[in-house]
Amino acid sequence: MKSEHIKYLACPGCAGDLILKEVSSGQENSIESGQLQCSDCKATYEIIRHVPRFVPTENYAASFGYEWNRHTRTQYDSYTGTRISEERFFQETKWPRDLSGQVILEVGSGSGRFTEPAAATGAMVVSLDYSSAVDANYASNGHKDNVLVVQGDIYTMPFRTNFFDKLFCIGVIQHTPDPERAFLRLTEHLKPGGSLAIDIYRYEWWRYLLVTRYWVRPITKRLPPETLYRWCEKYINLMWPLARWINRLPKGRYINLALLIADYRGRYPLSDAMLKEWAILDTFDGLSPAYDKPKSLTEVTRWCVKAGLENIEVERGYGGLVEGRGTKAV
Ligand SMILES: C[S@@+](CC[C@H](N)C(=O)[O-])C[C@H]1O[C@@H](n2cnc3c(N)ncnc32)[C@H](O)[C@@H]1O
Repeated sequence: MKSEHIKYLACPGCAGDLILKEVSSGQENSIESGQLQCSDCKATYEIIRHVPRFVPTENYAASFGYEWNRHTRTQYDSYTGTRISEERFFQETKWPRDLSGQVILEVGSGSGRFTEPAAATGAMVVSLDYSSAVDANYASNGHKDNVLVVQGDIYTMPFRTNFFDKLFCIGVIQHTPDPERAFLRLTEHLKPGGSLAIDIYRYEWWRYLLVTRYWVRPITKRLPPETLYRWCEKYINLMWPLARWINRLPKGRYINLALLIADYRGRYPLSDAMLKEWAILDTFDGLSPAYDKPKSLTEVTRWCVKAGLENIEVERGYGGLVEGRGTKAV
């Protein structure tokens, strides 16, 4: 981290200011390891491999750490040569392309595929994740002057309340133990007038019957990530030629989904090798998380109202998602 970025952080325990207590390696403009201390409660937090860490290394999001450190670049536009992540970012947030002068909080960054287009708006982007995925994000985005990568928990974020101009949280809330509480935490950190954009898997009762990943998840989520990943990789490699054929059938994509194959052929303009890489990643992503709690449009609307948001928009979004947007009342 850069020492000038300390102003974006606060003690997750008491919200006090943090000071740089020690730099063990690196320099002011690129601290590799050191310690931060709260000037009020004196709690200390480590900076490890350039990233300030506010949570224990072992936590329920370990499978995500494994996933994103295996697939550090897979879904980056600068890797695929497409605009898939950029388009999804602007479609979901509905924000302008130039956000210079603003401060954006990204919660649950994963490898940082959306940190990239967010940073390209010219805004300062503070990007938080609970897992060791922060290492993958730091490797791609950490060198940018307008990016600060932080390891922290959505429930106890190391930031001031009423602080950020904009906040986005894509693909995360369903993977937390208490989605409503996670959502309400997000809104606390927005400035009055600031805008929020989130998405969450959409709840429909029949998904638990028809979406086969919910049948096998009780077992797969308990497997060590390395074992499950190896299984996914072997399975996709084996099934890939058959999946291509199935994909051509009417509703073939859904048949593949039922066979636990995340097949994006015909949907994304990627090479066959990249499509397979995405398939392995997303098959693992569907089977591994500790929590998978979809919510309905009505439920997300209720949260927005409870948080006192204005200009609320809750709608069916990308894939099987609910998208939610709103601004914090002034
Ligand atoms: C499916 S990934 C999405 C990553 C990224 N937003 C994307 O769409 O590529 C979900 C991410 O949420 C993070 N996450 C889960 N629980 C969290 C929590 N309590 N606080 C912060 N991040 C969390 C995971 O570590 C994981 O990287």
